[in-house]
Formats: sequence, structure tokens, C-alpha cells
Amino acid sequence: MIELKKSKNFAGSEGPVVLVIMDGIGIGKNPESDFVKQAKTPNLTWLHENALYTELRAHGVAVGLPDDGDMGNSEVGHNAIGCGRIFEQGAALVGKAIASGAMYADGSVWQELVSNVNHKASTLHFIGLFSDGNVHSNLNHLESMLRKAKEQGVKKARIHALIDGRDVPPTSALDYVERFDAFLKEINADGTVDYCVASGGGRMNITMDRYDANWDMVKRGWATHVKAEGRTFASMKEAVETFRVENPGILDQDLPAFVIERDRAPVGPIVDGDSVIFFNFRGDRSLEITKAFEADELKEFDRGPKPDVLYAGMMQYDGDLGVPARYLVTPPAIDRTMSEYLSNAGVKQLAISETQKYGHMTYFFNGNNSGKFPTETWKEIPSDVCPFEDAPRMKADEITDVVVQAIESGEYKFIRLNFPNGDMVGHTGVVNAVKLAVEAVDENVGRIMEALKKANGIMVCTADHGNADDMCELDKKTGALVLDEQGRCKPKTAHSLNPVPGIVYDPSGAANARLADVPEAGIANLAATCITLLGFEPPEDYAASLVKVG
Ligand code: 3PG
Ligand code: CO
Repeated sequence: MIELKKSKNFAGSEGPVVLVIMDGIGIGKNPESDFVKQAKTPNLTWLHENALYTELRAHGVAVGLPDDGDMGNSEVGHNAIGCGRIFEQGAALVGKAIASGAMYADGSVWQELVSNVNHKASTLHFIGLFSDGNVHSNLNHLESMLRKAKEQGVKKARIHALIDGRDVPPTSALDYVERFDAFLKEINADGTVDYCVASGGGRMNITMDRYDANWDMVKRGWATHVKAEGRTFASMKEAVETFRVENPGILDQDLPAFVIERDRAPVGPIVDGDSVIFFNFRGDRSLEITKAFEADELKEFDRGPKPDVLYAGMMQYDGDLGVPARYLVTPPAIDRTMSEYLSNAGVKQLAISETQKYGHMTYFFNGNNSGKFPTETWKEIPSDVCPFEDAPRMKADEITDVVVQAIESGEYKFIRLNFPNGDMVGHTGVVNAVKLAVEAVDENVGRIMEALKKANGIMVCTADHGNADDMCELDKKTGALVLDEQGRCKPKTAHSLNPVPGIVYDPSGAANARLADVPEAGIANLAATCITLLGFEPPEDYAASLVKVG
């Protein structure tokens, strides 16, 4: 059994250690684009000036992404925070498996799916996020798989495209459509194959729900991709352009569903004998559609007759559940998480957030495993199903009610929570709502500080990546703000590349904590920091604690 040693310098504080993850609240660089700075944040300002405060890297290689041009995201961020080390993540692992050819090797799941369609003269389908955001997927992976499919004799492929605008600029869909149309033109040119887009829709409208927040999205996705039911168009370009004319100002992520038809018939319903690849590598928004394809019985919606297909995910999405049954690339082997160590040490732990980020604090935090360790309690506050710009406080107050009660009860030694506001409202691009979202987080951080002051506990406050701190599109070449026709800054909906705060607040001073000299510190250093503040020696191979104690 993996074990923690008690610290010689510090026996732990009287009250709990509370880890607050302010999702999407980073440290901005451009004041006009930084809606964390523009919000009223008396508590965060006080902490900046009076508590231990440092900047932490939360993007690129510091969280296991292929390079420093990759913004952070909640999966890799929570993995790093909860597991205390940097693992190569999905984006990097899939890229390597494709480049080395390992993904296509003899005996692979890829070969099984390709043989199935070649043998039955059936169709190879690809469903996934249609961008190069590198958060859930990458269009390069799709293009490489289609080239390989052609090489290996697959005659008919159909692509079901989930339009992004959330990990990439908000109305960039046509850039990807044009790129992919050119790709399809080239691959179809010699007339030996028939590869085309069959259906799609905005990623926040169909298919990519997470954590059981809104199964209607999956129901709509199933009708669109599998049954080919819905409004029809001659091409994806025509669909996007039509929707934009009909819904001025609509963001790509919210676009309605569409089905592509040729000669008055849909080009690609999914039918018995086909193979299906869900080409997202990230699990949270892949688990529900995977369940719809795999489960013998589904209670969440009536799918009608389930086609008998070979289904594979790009990666294994849940190591504990072994889902999906077939996957193309093996995920990072994330072991010995902080939750496991603390559980073995008998430390009672509470993990809490609202639905939209609930799995981030449980499944992602524990290394993409949905199993609970014995001393853990998990609590989910149901999220509203609504546009979050209309309710920017989200459930921050309700989450804090539970946390304050948990601090007062003395029942838990370690409490971890996520406030989704900065990120979920940041993704809407509605900047005034973002300010309110940040202010709600600040207020609730203040409530947690008060409770910890009374209980003689310690707060570690941070973020998994930035978002609200960088809300305006910048010109890629000049770095200048991109302005719209009215001269207003063009809202950005994606995460930022900015660092995030690393704050330690110890009102009783019991830990005598001071910042350690940690070069290139990142959010992976937070696990050892929490373990140190709980009165244990962190495991030797964990990224070093940000503080010294005692
Ligand atoms: C999403 O899934 O909402 C975005 O692609 C990434 O956001 P998250 O990493 O903050 O969940
Ligand atoms: Co986000």
C-alpha cells in the first residue's frame, strides 16, 4: 500500500486544508481584456497583498500538453493538481501514436474497425469535435486517420462534425470547413473512395454533454448522426452560412444540428455493420455518447433500434469503468493520486462542485478514474440548465454553504472545491456577465476565508487554467486587439495561456508557511503543497511543495 510519512516539522492545522479551484481565473496581461482585473475582487486583492502568493504555470508542457502554444484546460489541469506530477496527456499521446504508426499496428483496434468495414463493404464513421483546439480533439488526427483508411482500402467514410468555437475563436467554423473541404477534394480526387461530411451541429447543442447535465443534447446528437433526422443541407458550409443568417450573432458552439443529403437522401446514417470512431481523446464529454453506442439498455432517452456497429473511442475515457470497450490509444497511466495517498493515511476528504465541474473534482482530479477512495465524500450541487451568461453566479453560493458547514463541522481534514463561474461564463464571451461571475467567486472565497479563520484551517487557492483573464481576441500576427465593426473588442470564448495564482492563506499562522524556492512552478506543485500543509511529507516523485512549514 502506498503511504505518506508524517512530517517532522508540522503536525497539521487544527481546522481543515481547503483547496479552492477558481476555474478559469488566471492572471491577465492586457488590462482591457482582463475581466478578473476589471471585476471588484476585494478578497483576491487582499490575498495578493497579504497572503503567500505566487504565479503558477497552467498551460503547455507544464501540464503535459504537446507544446507551450497549447492553452491549459480542465482535464489536464485537474489531473496535474490531483496527481502531483506531469503526465503526457491525450493530445500528445495520440499525436505520437499516429506519428509512430503504433495506433495503426497489426492487431490494433484500428485494424479491427477497418477490417470490419472492408469485409462487409460498410461505412467507417468519425464523430468528433471539428477543430484544432487540442483540448478534446485535433483535426490533424482525423485527417491522418482518413488518409490511412484510404491506404487500407476503406471505400466509404462519413464524418459527423461537432462545430467548436469554444476552444478556438467563437466564429471560426468556416476556416475549418474550408480546410477540410480542400482535404476531402484531394482525397476523393482519384475516384476510388467516397469520403464526406454526413451531419453535425454546435458542440454545446448536440452530443457533447458532460456529467449527465443535459442528456437532451445527446438525444439530439443521436438523432442527427445515427438516424440522420433533422434539417437537411447540401453541404456543411451551406448549413453554417444559413444558420448564421437566420440567427445573427450566433456562436459556433450553439449552432443547430444539420444533416447532409445527396439526391434527396441523407448521405450517412449509421447502420448495422458499420464501424464508428469517436475521435475526441478527452473523456468528460465523450462518456455519454459512448454509453448511447455501447449500453444494451439505455434509460436516459429512447434511441430506437440500436445499430449493430463496432464502436471505438480515441482513448479509454474511464479507467475504473473500462469505458469504452474498444479504444485506439492508451491513456496516460496516472497512478498514486493525492486522494489515494490521503485515503490510505485516513484523512477524511470532501470533494464538491456543481454538475458542470463535478467530475473535474472527482474523476479528473483522481486521474480520469470514476472510483471513490474510502475516505472520500463527493457532493454534487445540480447546475441549472441555462445559458450561464444569464446566471453568472451559477451555484457558487450553494457550494460555499456546504463548504462552510463542512469546515464548521470539523468532519473533514481536506476539502476540495471548484467554482466554475470564471470558466463557464468566460466561454460565453459575454464580458459583463464574466465580471459578475468573477465577483461571485471572490465573495465566496471571502466566506471560506472567514470560516477558516474561525476554525484555524488553511486555504490553498488557485485555478486550473485561465479564461476570464483574457476575454478579447488578439490578432495572431500583431498581438493587437481585434475590433468589430463598432470598434468593440471581439470577445474570445477559449481559455488563455496565462499563469494562475497560487495562494496559501493560513490565518492562525500554525504552519509558519513560507514560499519555497521552486523554479518554473506550475499547478502540479499544488498536490505536494496540500500534503505538506496537512502535516505529511509529500511523495518523493511529486513536484515539490510550494511552501516550507514548521
Ligand atoms: C469545454 O469542454 O467546455 C471546453 O472545451 C474546455 O473547458 P474546460 O477544460 O474548462 O472544461
Ligand atoms: Co473551460
